[in-house]
Amino acid sequence: MSTPAEPPVTAIILAAGQGTRMKSARPKVLHELCGRPMIHHVVDAARAAGAGEVVVVVGHGREEVEAYLARAFDGQVRTAVQDVQQGTGHAVRCALPALSPHADRVFVLYGDTPLLDPAELARLPRELDLHPGARMAMLTTRVPDPAGYGRIVRDGDGRVVRIVEHRDATPAERAIDEINPGVYLARADALRAAVAALRPNNAQGELYLTDVVEALAREGVVPTVLVKDMVSVSGINDRAQLAAAEDVLYARLADALRREGATIRAGARVDAGVVVEADAVIEHGVVLRGATRVGKGARIDVGSVLTDVTVAAGAVVKPYTVAQGASIGELAQIGPFSHLRPESRVEAEAHIGNFVETKKTIVRRGAKANHLAYLGDGDVGEGANIGAGTIFCNYDGFKKHRTDIGAGAFIGSDTQIVAPVRIGAGAYVATGTTVTKDVPEGALAISRVRQENKEGYVERLKARLRAGGKSAK
Ligand code: UD1
Ligand code: CA
Repeated sequence: MSTPAEPPVTAIILAAGQGTRMKSARPKVLHELCGRPMIHHVVDAARAAGAGEVVVVVGHGREEVEAYLARAFDGQVRTAVQDVQQGTGHAVRCALPALSPHADRVFVLYGDTPLLDPAELARLPRELDLHPGARMAMLTTRVPDPAGYGRIVRDGDGRVVRIVEHRDATPAERAIDEINPGVYLARADALRAAVAALRPNNAQGELYLTDVVEALAREGVVPTVLVKDMVSVSGINDRAQLAAAEDVLYARLADALRREGATIRAGARVDAGVVVEADAVIEHGVVLRGATRVGKGARIDVGSVLTDVTVAAGAVVKPYTVAQGASIGELAQIGPFSHLRPESRVEAEAHIGNFVETKKTIVRRGAKANHLAYLGDGDVGEGANIGAGTIFCNYDGFKKHRTDIGAGAFIGSDTQIVAPVRIGAGAYVATGTTVTKDVPEGALAISRVRQENKEGYVERLKARLRAGGKSAK
């Protein structure tokens, strides 16, 4: 991060292109890796490298991209519009008026390079400062197959002269394996002047940002930083590249959590932004998304999918649990095969077992619903026990109604609770009861037909059926 004493570093990110090769109705930069659109990762990298102000150039799918940025960055990221995509240089020209007049040094990045490493970006301000006459510094990298990339053309002294695009390059230039990953840092005034002077003089009739490099290389040296791992600067143009980049990012995110003490088994997918604390175990095939947090020593077992879920320390989520917008308390046990829907709050040491679904329900400390139940719009008191097959009948076709169950209450199996209903603390509800009115504290509620045994009935029935008669009384 830049200290307040340094002149501000800003960033322009180009994201107006269509991304034809994605073959998608969705703008390219909104395609996701690890739960976040490409553009989000690029903005994060720019900020992590010290950019205070970020301007994203939008065009194709403008409304969608703007809406996403406003939501994701809380209005902190600005946008500039490029109505017609006339090239990367033209895109920067569109962004410059949106930049604060105090901008001193400007990163220029492409919105389709989501694996950027902030540490590498942060090398550019240092490089620029080391070369007093320099107007611009940039990253370069060497690739085995440079096709499609702009090539770095150097003079006899090894100084950057210009960048030639693949389609404009001669066979000799095409043989150059040092390429332009599209990561630049320029002095704002020099960038403004060079971008204003751009002319379309290439195969595509576009304004190339790369021509700015040539112009600034005439005014002073353009120092470069060679990136060893080309993966971090690879551009995404199609879905195959997107999938490959996503694998790289998942591996990076998992490794970062492992270094902080979490166990992330191979085959788990932990999205960007998810927090996993030390000694937590994330098993194979688990998917953790959104604002999910897993506390110390908690265990998320095979195949569980958690979206925006908080799991407190020591809780155990058994295999194949699906949860969204829920919280799970310390040492609670969930699953296998549980479904926690939004606004479910399972408190400490509570148990939710197989084929139990909860929605907008608090299950208080130590309460248990171990098998086959639906708990919707309810509040289950401390230590209460919900028997197998219990249903909170919360919906009458028009409105949802609440079920409140007091501490220590015992709900027998196969109970239907027709909400709105309150069941007092310590009350018992007998198995098979349909509860339609409140149950006082300490009372027993029972509603079922008394059992009757008809001795010897089966033999008499069978005899009649064999004789072809009607079934009998
Ligand atoms: C560009 C570079 C090339 C470099 C490569 C690295 C130029 C001329 N070429 O080529 O040297 O090796 O990236 O990946 O800069 N965009 C706009 N407006 C436009 C055109 C593009 O905003 O008018 C945006 C796109 O949305 C994209 C980025 O700029 O995010 C790069 O554009 P793209 O068409 O992918 O450039 P490349 O051909 O890959
Ligand atoms: Ca590209």
